[in-house]
Amino acid sequence: MIDTDDGHLTELIAEYEENGWCRAPYRFSGPAVNLLRDRVDAICHRGGPETVHEKDSTAVRAVHGCHAFDEVCAAFVRHPYLLALAEALAGTPVYVYQFKVNLKQAREGRAWPWHQDFAFWNAEDGMPRPAAVTLAVPLDDVHEGNGPLMLIPGSHRLGYLGPGKVTPGDKGDWRRNFATDPEHIMDADRARELVATHGSTRATGRAGTIQAFHPNIVHSSSDNTSPDRRALLMVSYNSIDNAPPHPVRPEFLVGRNTDQLKPRWDKRFPLEAG
Ligand code: SIN
Ligand code: MN
Repeated sequence: MIDTDDGHLTELIAEYEENGWCRAPYRFSGPAVNLLRDRVDAICHRGGPETVHEKDSTAVRAVHGCHAFDEVCAAFVRHPYLLALAEALAGTPVYVYQFKVNLKQAREGRAWPWHQDFAFWNAEDGMPRPAAVTLAVPLDDVHEGNGPLMLIPGSHRLGYLGPGKVTPGDKGDWRRNFATDPEHIMDADRARELVATHGSTRATGRAGTIQAFHPNIVHSSSDNTSPDRRALLMVSYNSIDNAPPHPVRPEFLVGRNTDQLKPRWDKRFPLEAG
């Protein structure tokens, strides 16, 4: 593993607090990305209950909770750099609240409407505070055409932006919430106003890049109309003192082991600068 410079975390924390997202100056190497990609392909083929398909299609839209049953994914979430970054940004020890890969298949992967993740986590699971952080690692190169995440910088500082009021425990249908018309999404006009005021950024970049997102940042992504898949692996780490007290959704969506996750170095996941 390359020696990561701990000093850079201070700068990343400042950027994250200001914008609600940041990109690490390190990325996973090609072989590490290939290993994850192969595992995710195998998981998509196994077709377990954690798999969600695109509407009226056999194309896999997302798989969840793979760190609980797949040894490679289990090793990945314990990566010392990912854990150090998550703890620095969350400001406390963390555990894995949610693991998912959104596949955005070539030409078939559909959009994700404007939303704030905490609206779902608070309503569906009763997560008390937005004291979590999502680390996202694309497993394919992400460009303007294959449905990159679109972020509204600074929107995480505005709290919950509606519509209406989220009531913790206001549980919906979890499968519907992974489709293109979920509950708890933002009004499109409100999102347009926010973009006019705050601007927007596309999270493009090479496979293996490491990006961090705040639970309240407003984000969306468009259909993938390109010939290139856009698989995005996301690990949402939550503060150990912020676990939902009575989660109901399946364990593959809401981690039940809320003990502090301990780092474990694994030589299959080297980092490189970038
Ligand atoms: C998300 O909102 O969690 C992800 C959306 C995407 O995969 O583009
Ligand atoms: Mn989201």
